[in-house]
Amino acid sequence: MNLLAKSNSALLGEVLCPGDKSISQRILIIGSLVNEDISIKGFLNGEDPKSTAMALNQIGSSIKINGTNAYISKRDVPFISPKSSVDLGNSGTGIRLLMGLISSLNIRTTLVGDESLSKRPMLRVANPLNEMGANVECSEGTPPIQIQKGNIKDNFLYDMPVASAQVKSSIILAALAANKKVTVIEKHPTRNHTERMISYFGGSIEQTKKGFDNSIVLQSSKLINKTSYEVVGDFSSAAFLIVAGLIAKESNMLIKNVGLNPTRSGLIKVLQSMGGEIEIINQSIVCNEEVGDVSVKSSKLKGIDIGGDIIPNIIDEIPILSIAASFANGSSTIKDAAELRVKESDRLAAISDGLSQIKIKHELFEDGIKIQGEENDITGRPEIDSFGDHRIAMSFLIASLRSENGIFVKDCKNILTSFPNFLETMNKLGLEVNET
Ligand code: S3P
Repeated sequence: MNLLAKSNSALLGEVLCPGDKSISQRILIIGSLVNEDISIKGFLNGEDPKSTAMALNQIGSSIKINGTNAYISKRDVPFISPKSSVDLGNSGTGIRLLMGLISSLNIRTTLVGDESLSKRPMLRVANPLNEMGANVECSEGTPPIQIQKGNIKDNFLYDMPVASAQVKSSIILAALAANKKVTVIEKHPTRNHTERMISYFGGSIEQTKKGFDNSIVLQSSKLINKTSYEVVGDFSSAAFLIVAGLIAKESNMLIKNVGLNPTRSGLIKVLQSMGGEIEIINQSIVCNEEVGDVSVKSSKLKGIDIGGDIIPNIIDEIPILSIAASFANGSSTIKDAAELRVKESDRLAAISDGLSQIKIKHELFEDGIKIQGEENDITGRPEIDSFGDHRIAMSFLIASLRSENGIFVKDCKNILTSFPNFLETMNKLGLEVNET
């Protein structure tokens, strides 16, 4: 699917933020372990949560999805070895979190993925799981992954060499499913939805600060049923709308029901420091997650330099932050973000490629990028390759708000993994995005 985005009017109005992808996937996994009837509202009906649901159903869960509702029914039988391999599509979260869960279920499974997922590093998860007593094999370090019956140890301690919520969650889920205690140490805090959800379902999980490190301890826990769960909106999807509102020449928008967990919403502080007019109203807590409405107005942005601890909290937002930086006054530098090289695409390379097409001056580093902001509108009709990456595709479609004749983006089908109603939402706000 190729898309053309063209801005003809102001961005105005109120939109609902789509459900959080990370949380939608976690509730299916943790809900399957709770093993009671659970009804879920606000679910992200995107390709990633759907492939996670299908994978769980293949190993014996009973999950049904109906629009933005999902239902988990109590299983009468234990988890089972699936008859064929389990396909997680494009989803890194799906495959890595299921590696942890399945390692403790005493079943045999082969996990596979699409072309992008088949290139992504899996030893960061397989190695600690095997140290923990699991039996996970991925000879090339990438999918396919074979999991056999293992024997998960009690009291395992893992000091994470990479800042990754997927690695952390996989280890925690393996211990949870095996009823064992585990300690995970992280040097840079990463998103903590797994910890919050386990706690919501009555599990004993504590996070403490040890010097500069975060120590997360899960005690052997039996989860309790809650019958219902509500997924808050996805901050990473809201980020596209927020930056759209800021860079548009004229805008006044309200994005409703945005998840504001501080381990996810670091971009708000970054954009406010850049001069972005962003306000949060109607804050509350839903199922242990902060949520609120975000109002945005077009703003004159200035450049910023960022790196260090904030990076894991804005890791998925760096492509769209690069677009904000492209239209800010002065230069912006993003460092310590080498993890972007192993996402759905090599995102640093993909951002650089796209910025070259729209003639934004920049310098690429191994772990970041320096971008020189541009006041003038993008001329011509640039053609961007998304490299099949949903966040790259949406970022450059949003950049068209500062173009004379629109921007054409190739290979956009993976927008469906995280933001299935992106086109409808943007068209409603006033940015024309159409298939060509
Ligand atoms: C995610 C964690 C992050 C993020 C990904 C979703 C999660 O990945 O980039 O989109 O749901 O735990 P890493 O754990 O690889 O940093």
